[in-house]
Amino acid sequence: MSESGVQITESVLDTLAQTQDPRLQAIMTSLITHLHDFVREVELTEAEWWQAIQFLTRVGQTCDDRRQEFVLLSDTLGVSMLVDAINHAAGNGVTESTVLGPFYREDAAEIPFGGSINLDGRGEPAIVSGRVFSSDGSHGTPIAGALLDVWQASQNGLYEQQDPNQPEMNLRGRFHTDAEGRYKLVGVKPVSYPVPDDGPVGQMLRALGRHPYRPAHIHFIVSAPGHATLTTHLFMQGDPYLASDAVFGVKDDLVVEFVRNDSPEAAARHGVQAPFYIAAYDFVLKPVSAEQSQTVSAAPGTARID
Ligand code: BEZ
Ligand code: FE
Repeated sequence: MSESGVQITESVLDTLAQTQDPRLQAIMTSLITHLHDFVREVELTEAEWWQAIQFLTRVGQTCDDRRQEFVLLSDTLGVSMLVDAINHAAGNGVTESTVLGPFYREDAAEIPFGGSINLDGRGEPAIVSGRVFSSDGSHGTPIAGALLDVWQASQNGLYEQQDPNQPEMNLRGRFHTDAEGRYKLVGVKPVSYPVPDDGPVGQMLRALGRHPYRPAHIHFIVSAPGHATLTTHLFMQGDPYLASDAVFGVKDDLVVEFVRNDSPEAAARHGVQAPFYIAAYDFVLKPVSAEQSQTVSAAPGTARID
C-alpha cells in the first residue's frame, strides 16, 4: 500500500470543509475515514470491490413496496440493533426495545380487551396479558388507554403479507389498556421462522455459514401520551434460536414463558380451544416531554416498509 492512498483520503476529507450542515459533515468525515481505513486494512482487490458493488446493486433491486432488503442487510449485520441500543437506553425498569422488522403494517383493526387477532383459526391459541406502567414512580403507575399495536407470523412462519393463503391483516390488532392499565389479547403460539433469504442477504448469510432464523416472538409497539413509544417483541422461552437470532434482537428481559394448558374447561373460560398457551408480561414506558414523545413515536414510521 503506497503513501498515495493516504493522500486520497485527505483529499476527500478536504472537500467536506464546504459542507454547510455540521452533523452531515461530522458523519461523512467519520464514514470516509472508516471506509478508507477498511479498504486499506483488507487491501481490497478490484474483483472484491466489483463484487461489493454488484451485491449492493442487487440489494437495491430486491427492494419494492413489500420488501426492504437494505433494512434486512442492516438487521443481519447488527446495525439496526446498534442504532436501537444508542437511541433507546432502557434502565429504571423501562422495558427493553428491539427491532421493528419489515412486516409492520399501520391501521390494524382496533380489538376489544381479550379479543383475538387470529382471523383464520390456524395455530394453537396464545393468550398474552399484563399491564402497561409508567416508570415515573418506584413501583410504576398503570397507564389507562395505552395503545398496544401487535403483530405476529402465523403457525407456518409467514406474515400475512407474505402468504396469499392468509386473510388480509391476519394476526394484527390494536388493543387499549383498561382503567387499571391491563391488556389481554389472543394470538397464536409463536414459531421461529427464517427472515426472507431468497435474495442477496440470504446469499450473504449462506456465504458466512449463518442460518436465517429468528426465535419465536410476537411484535408490539406500545404507546401512550407523554411516554416514549416502545417498539419491542416478546420472545418464547425455550426457543432453540434465542442465542443465535439472525438479527441479534433478543434481550433476556423480553423472553417469557408460554405456559401450555391442555384443559378444555380452562380453554372454554378464555373462549379458545385446548391446548392453549398463556404468557404474562408487564410493559413499562419511559415518561418524556410532549415534544420528545412526538419525535420518538415518529420513529417506527420511518422504517416502515409495507
Ligand atoms: C421480524 O421479526 O419480523 C423481522 C425482523 C428483522 C428482519 C426480518 C424480520
Ligand atoms: Fe417478526
